[in-house]
Amino acid sequence: MTDHMPDDLSAAGRDLRAYTDELRPRHPVVRNSMGEWVLLRHEDVLAAALDHQRFSSQVSRFLQVPNGLDGEEHTRFREVIERHLSHDALEPFIPAFKRVASQLVAALPRGVVLDAVNDIGAVFAVRAQCAWLGWPAELEPRLLAWMKENHAATRSGDSAWTADVAEQFDEIIRSVIQPRREAGDDAPDDLTTKLCRETVNGRQLTEAELVSILRNWTGGDLGSIALCVGVLLAHIAGQPDLAEKIRTAPDSEAEAIIDEVLRLDDPFVSNRRVTTCPVHIGGRDIPSGARVKLNWTSANRDEAVFDNNRFDPQGNAGNNLVYGAGKHVCPGRLLATWELRIALQTLLASVRTIELVSDQPPEREVAPVGGYHRVPVVLT
Ligand code: HEM
Repeated sequence: MTDHMPDDLSAAGRDLRAYTDELRPRHPVVRNSMGEWVLLRHEDVLAAALDHQRFSSQVSRFLQVPNGLDGEEHTRFREVIERHLSHDALEPFIPAFKRVASQLVAALPRGVVLDAVNDIGAVFAVRAQCAWLGWPAELEPRLLAWMKENHAATRSGDSAWTADVAEQFDEIIRSVIQPRREAGDDAPDDLTTKLCRETVNGRQLTEAELVSILRNWTGGDLGSIALCVGVLLAHIAGQPDLAEKIRTAPDSEAEAIIDEVLRLDDPFVSNRRVTTCPVHIGGRDIPSGARVKLNWTSANRDEAVFDNNRFDPQGNAGNNLVYGAGKHVCPGRLLATWELRIALQTLLASVRTIELVSDQPPEREVAPVGGYHRVPVVLT
């Protein structure tokens, strides 16, 4: 499981967003089918995310760098990661992201039905990540096939299948790490090589740590970006005014609009914690050692904080939890934001309209995944 594995309340097959909207006012904390405590209110989700003492991130028996770490150990690894996700580190990749977006958009057929999630979002996400990490284009079909299977395994709830798919991904990552480690000074000058040369506590990162870091950067994030593109296009299609605004607004304004659309329909559903002592939250007493879920999707629609359906990019920005909060707040936020903005701006600059298809409405994902499974659109 990566940190970005989508999560849920029950696998009952309902639109998770509608379900948590219904539950939240009367049941701020619910138990899911796995016995986990799910926090649904903004106030409680934020409190748990900021309380690193009582809500530990050590939720898995597998190594998860940095998301499964607490305290100083987390800080040490987080510093390594942040170096590669800062504004200065990412800026040189903007031309590559624009190139990836332009090539993809130019090749998309006009006047036929496309799926915004798989035909646009997933392909853009994989190509942008490969460009960023210095991974060969030949990996693209393998990564796309992996995303599909990972998704299917997650939806199935079959843990053996999920573990097998996770192992396949680690195999892909090892295939890019090993040659770089063996090549020493002759390794290609790219981000993956830079990461292989990073040190913590005066020693190089182990292969297991590198695999875990790269798994976190790619495995789940590819899926998150694809889902975000689906949500964004489903929202923008048929709203020419909003499309025009995103196309012409300054970058910061376009990014605020994107964040606000994702707040209302956050496809990155939840993250886990484990309590280190008995905790009283949302009117419930949770015992020590209990598994807790911070449901960002529900928190982001809490009517106590947001005038729920009012679209207010500036006004709601401060409370938006799409990228989390506290020490584990998403270090990839800037990268994700730039990728999403560039993908949208490029698409909007080259098409006249993006329209939904009347007899093929967008298909919602079912729990445990958020956003949409498929968003049929026609570009003209
Ligand atoms: C597409 C949009 C994305 C969304 C909505 C998203 C959301 C989040 C959220 C909510 C967290 C907090 C997890 C927690 O509190 O347990 C998180 C953590 C994290 N994200 Fe993202 N993320 C996205 C893209 C990315 C990208 C592109 C990267 C890197 C390439 C990335 C890397 C990480 C890492 C490494 C963590 C763990 C941080 C830590 O534990 O200190 N994310 N993300």
